[in-house]
Amino acid sequence: MGYLLALESSCDESAAAVIEMETGRPAASVVYSQIDLHRRYGGVVPEIASRDHLRRMPGVVEEAMQQAAIGWDSIEVVAATRGPGLATSLLVGWTMAKGIAAALGVPVVGVNHLVGHLASLGLSPDMPDDSMSLPDPLTSCGPTVILLVSGGHTALVLNQGLHDRRLLGQTIDDAAGEAYDKVAKILELGYPGGPIVDRLAQAGNPEAFRLPRSFLDGSTPDEHRYNFSFSGLKTAVLYQVRRDPERFLSGGETSTAVRDLCASFQAAVVDVLVRKLLRAADAQGVGWIGAAGGVSLNHGLRAELQHQAAAQGKRLLLAPASVCTDNALMIGLAGRTQFLCEGAAHDQGDVDPGWSL
Ligand code: KG4
Ligand code: ZN
Repeated sequence: MGYLLALESSCDESAAAVIEMETGRPAASVVYSQIDLHRRYGGVVPEIASRDHLRRMPGVVEEAMQQAAIGWDSIEVVAATRGPGLATSLLVGWTMAKGIAAALGVPVVGVNHLVGHLASLGLSPDMPDDSMSLPDPLTSCGPTVILLVSGGHTALVLNQGLHDRRLLGQTIDDAAGEAYDKVAKILELGYPGGPIVDRLAQAGNPEAFRLPRSFLDGSTPDEHRYNFSFSGLKTAVLYQVRRDPERFLSGGETSTAVRDLCASFQAAVVDVLVRKLLRAADAQGVGWIGAAGGVSLNHGLRAELQHQAAAQGKRLLLAPASVCTDNALMIGLAGRTQFLCEGAAHDQGDVDPGWSL
């Protein structure tokens, strides 16, 4: 039986995965995170990232092949992220994928990282049975509005399978994950901020501070109906802290004020994301909704999505935690669909750091 080998190196995770072509079954997934190298800089440093990908990728690929317990002669397609992301990070995985494919004499497929995040929903426990073996598993749900929320992107996508997707709206400034990371920076809580702010928010009062919710009320211009903006919210948090630095910057994680501000920030983000997602689903007459990307790990977001989906009779797709943040399994799933639906050319050009959905 043939397998697909997938590589991901768009940001600061070096990852490889193996998928059985016929069934779509994951056979291996290995993710090496560089986060400890970047933490002290408060963000990803591109040169450090690409050098570490060069160091780690060969071992990560070798480990995935061992986990899958197959030989190189079983690989019939190689897929890798070709964009969007950091150019010098993308180059490592994409060049390696092309090299492996050339050595094996098999095709190589260049995958859009954002389509990979959408494909991760194929692993949701709520997917219809037996859909994974379809060439495009997401077609089995019918039309689905998906909220894509990561460190670099925030978008609403109308998806009728990976190869019939339409961008409904996106952020006009910060991505949701970026806003989390910046708020954590303002509060001097560490990096990456999402998981920290999420944890503190669970111990705070979400009504303690009144924070703005952009593009949500009746005065929103029509062109921004499905767009997002988080920079005003981030600035509102900054002004709260500047007004009384002692109150927010002296107690760290144990401070009630910090927990309350995190909870109020999270409530504003979740409110906007969930209401816009459901509004779009209703307007499109769609019964399925989903959320993918690193921020879809957020406890407040997951709880509100589950609550609203049940209340409004929508079916909800959420990926398992292991494939919400960057990984190669999602790239493999998207690559498999791409290969089965469109085939592959041996040379698909260079990396594309600005590749949109
Ligand atoms: O999808 P991802 O791994 O990378 C991109 O493609 O951008 O997402 C990373 C982002 C970071 O901004 C991180 O802070 C955020 O996801 N994140 C979270 C949580 N876990 C990760 N944001 C909110 N709550 C979380 N629990
Ligand atoms: Zn990502």
